[in-house]
Amino acid sequence: MSRYQELAEQTENLILNGVLRPGERLPSVRHACRIHDVSPVTVTQAYYLLESRGLIEARPKSGYFVRARLGRGLPEPEMTHPVGGSTQLQVSDFIFQILESARDPAVVPLGSSFPSPYRYPLDKLGRFLASAARKFDPQATLTDLPPGNEELRRQLALRYLAQGATVSPQEIIITSGAMEGLNLCLQAVTQPGDLIAIESPTFYAGLQASERLGLKVIEIPSHPRDGVNLAALADALRHHPIKACLFMLNFANPTGSRVPDESKKALLALLRQHDVPLIEDDVYAELYFGPHAPLCSKAEDSTGLVMHVSSFSKCLAPGYRIGWVAAGRYARQIQRQKLSLSLATTIPVQIAVADYLKQGGFDNHLRHLRQTLAMQEVVLAQAVERHFPAGTKLARPKGGYFLWLELAARVDTLLLHQQALTHGISIAPGPIFSAKREFSHYLRLNFGHPGSERLMSAMATLGALIAQQLS
Ligand SMILES: Cc1ncc(COP(=O)(O)O)c(C=O)c1O
Repeated sequence: MSRYQELAEQTENLILNGVLRPGERLPSVRHACRIHDVSPVTVTQAYYLLESRGLIEARPKSGYFVRARLGRGLPEPEMTHPVGGSTQLQVSDFIFQILESARDPAVVPLGSSFPSPYRYPLDKLGRFLASAARKFDPQATLTDLPPGNEELRRQLALRYLAQGATVSPQEIIITSGAMEGLNLCLQAVTQPGDLIAIESPTFYAGLQASERLGLKVIEIPSHPRDGVNLAALADALRHHPIKACLFMLNFANPTGSRVPDESKKALLALLRQHDVPLIEDDVYAELYFGPHAPLCSKAEDSTGLVMHVSSFSKCLAPGYRIGWVAAGRYARQIQRQKLSLSLATTIPVQIAVADYLKQGGFDNHLRHLRQTLAMQEVVLAQAVERHFPAGTKLARPKGGYFLWLELAARVDTLLLHQQALTHGISIAPGPIFSAKREFSHYLRLNFGHPGSERLMSAMATLGALIAQQLS
C-alpha cells in the first residue's frame, strides 16, 4: 500500500470511529504534511481518494470537510408481511439457476454471498496448514473423528466463554462449514413432512435444505433492523405444530438485521415455553461494527435448546470449510448424523485452524476486518444514494456485508438480474430469499469487496437499469 493510501485509510478510520465528525474540517494540506511527515502531493492524493469515496467534500477556499451525511439518508424498508400458511418447497432449481450465473469471477460480485478473499490471513493460515500436515499424527485419524479435533473444540469453548457462554467442548461438533451444520441440525430434530419456522426473507440455503429434507416451512415476518417478529412467532407457535425454528439473530442474510439483546432473551423464553428448539445460523456474528459483540444466544440457553451453528468461512478462512454446531441437548444426535453422513471433517485443516486460534492473532485480524467492512458499507450505501432512483429504501446493517434494498414496486429484480448480467454485474434478486418467491422488487448487494472504480461504475449502471425499468 502506498503512503497516500495509508494516510487515506487512517483518516477514514478516524471518520468511521467518530473521531472526525460529519461537518468537521480536516487538517489543511500544509498542517497534514507536518503531522504525518509527508509531502503535499501525498496529502492531496489521499484527500482526493477520500473525496471519490464520498467520505469528505472540498469546499471552495475553506478546505476539506467530513461529509454531513454519510449515506444515512434513505428510508428503511418496513416489516415484511409474508403470505400466510405453510409451504411445501420447490425452490432449488430456480435458486441454483440464479446463483450459477453469478459465479463467473469476471462478473462484478454485487450478488455474491462471499466477501473478498483478499481480506483474510491466508498466508499465515497456509503456514499453519503446512505445519499441521508435516507433523500429522496418524492416530489423529481416529482421535479426531466426530465430534472433532479436541484442541479446536477447546479453543471454540474458550471463545464462547469470552462471550459469557459456558459451552462444554463435548457439545461442540466440528462440521464441513455451517452448511453441513444446518443440515445436520434439521435432520436431528425433524422428519419429512414436519413444519419448521423460518424468517422472511431468509437465506436461500435454508430453503434448499428444507426442500431436500421434505420439510414444510412457515415464514415469520421480520424487520430489516430488528429481525424476526416475536409477536408473529408466538402466534405461529400457538397455532401450528412447529418442530424447530431456523433463524439468524445477528446480521441476517439477506437483510443484515440484528435481533436486539433483550428480544433474544424473550425469544429464548418463548421457545422454552413451547419446548421448540432453535437452530441459530450465526456465521456473521464476529463481523459487528460497533464496540461490543452482540449477545450470544448460548449465554442465555439454560436448557440446551439452542443449536448454535457457525463457521470460519466468513470471518477467518473462506474455503477451509471448518464450521461447528454447539448443539446443547442434541449433541449426541448430531454427532451420529455427522458420522453417518460424511464420517469426519478434514483433520489437518481442523488442526491448522486450532493452531491459528491458539497463536495466530485472530482478534487482531477481526478488528481490521470489521473496520474494513464498516467502511465499505458506507461507500456502497452512498453509491446507492447517489445512483439509484428516488423511492429506493435501504436497510443499514450494523455488521456483516449485505445491504438489503427495497425498490419502487414496479421494478422486477429478476429481470434486473438478467439485465445486469449482460453488463457483467451480478445482484441477488429478492425472490431467491422467499419460499413463495416474494420480494420481487427487493435486492441484496454485497459490500464485502473494496469500493473500486469498477464497483462504483457497476452501481451507476444498476441505477440506470432500474430507472429504465421505471420509465
Ligand atoms: C447465513 C449463512 N449461513 C451459512 C452460510 C454458509 O456457511 P459455510 O460456508 O460455512 O457453509 C452462508 C454463506 O453464504 C450464509 O450466508
